[in-house]
Amino acid sequence: MRLVLCGDTLLERVALRMPLIPLPAVQVMAGMALSGALIASARLGLVEELARHPATAEELAARLSLRADTVRLLLDALQTLGYLRRHRDRYTLTRRARKWLLTSSDVSVIQLVSSTRDLWNLWTDLPDVARGHEVTDHHTRAPDDAYWQRYITGQYEMARLTTPETMAALHVPRQARSVLDIAGGHGYFAAQLCRRYPALRATVLDLPGSAAIGRDLLQRVGADHLVTYQEGDARVADLGAGYDLILCFNLIHHLQLEEIPALFRRVHASLRPGGHFAVLGMLLEPGRRHRPRADECGRGLLFQLTSNGVLCSPEQLTAWLTEAGFAAPRRTRLRRSLGQWLYQAKALH
Ligand SMILES: C[S@@+](CC[C@H](N)C(=O)[O-])C[C@H]1O[C@@H](n2cnc3c(N)ncnc32)[C@H](O)[C@@H]1O
Repeated sequence: MRLVLCGDTLLERVALRMPLIPLPAVQVMAGMALSGALIASARLGLVEELARHPATAEELAARLSLRADTVRLLLDALQTLGYLRRHRDRYTLTRRARKWLLTSSDVSVIQLVSSTRDLWNLWTDLPDVARGHEVTDHHTRAPDDAYWQRYITGQYEMARLTTPETMAALHVPRQARSVLDIAGGHGYFAAQLCRRYPALRATVLDLPGSAAIGRDLLQRVGADHLVTYQEGDARVADLGAGYDLILCFNLIHHLQLEEIPALFRRVHASLRPGGHFAVLGMLLEPGRRHRPRADECGRGLLFQLTSNGVLCSPEQLTAWLTEAGFAAPRRTRLRRSLGQWLYQAKALH
């Protein structure tokens, strides 16, 4: 998958191909502008308002008390991204916008888009990170920082999207009663799992900032009786004992490589004999035939910037699991989330 510029007219396509147009100048400007426009539109509620009534830029600006000229530019940017249609100066939402950007949609990612504002300044640190400057892990923010709300709500939206597929692929041991979700944050997956397997009770272990948001979220959707939160750092916290199933979803790329096998050994010790461990995460896809994907590069860089994290390879992950005492893992590639894999392994003894 690549983000490409394609011309609308034959002339533009030829000019791009020749190449007559300075591609880096367009990429660097348009990339930032479109990303900025998406974030601003989410934060200003433009799409929600257009869903209520199609409007001209001027009408929308008046309704939201905004500058009309800025609103027009934002709407045009959304149109180029395929989220809006314009007819006689009036903008309406496309199906794509209704699906991904409206809060009422089950698969909306509007909060994730909005929370990307928090990452904006981080990108300017990239040259320093490449020079070896220290990275501040975004998970070290104070537990009461408003950042957690934005971060975890965005993660919740992504989890809502991938949960049916992950759940379908997940092996839950027969008569399982207890599950520990390490770094389960919003608690959505744990709660859905308990709903599907009524005998199950879940514990979510996460940092205090995430746990506070997760508790709140589950209370609002009436699922707080299914999940207990344990606040702590997964690298050092007591994981407990006798679990039938332990999950570790989207955490390992935030850890340092040497911390992962140590965590897996502790997970093994916390499972009952024959219990199952499931790891979900982004993995490197090396190999001569693999072409780097735009989303993969974006995430790889972002994990470095936010946590000094690294993507590990499938071989590394398998080796850590077997060294920790698990049988050879079964792996499943998720279709709804690019580059994401589910690894499942049984504790051998
Ligand atoms: C990308 S989110 C994933 C949340 C959820 N597991 C999911 O897949 O949607 C990463 C989660 O890891 C948690 N986390 C990061 N470092 C952690 C640590 N050292 N101990 C426990 N949780 C941690 C964060 O608070 C956050 O909830």
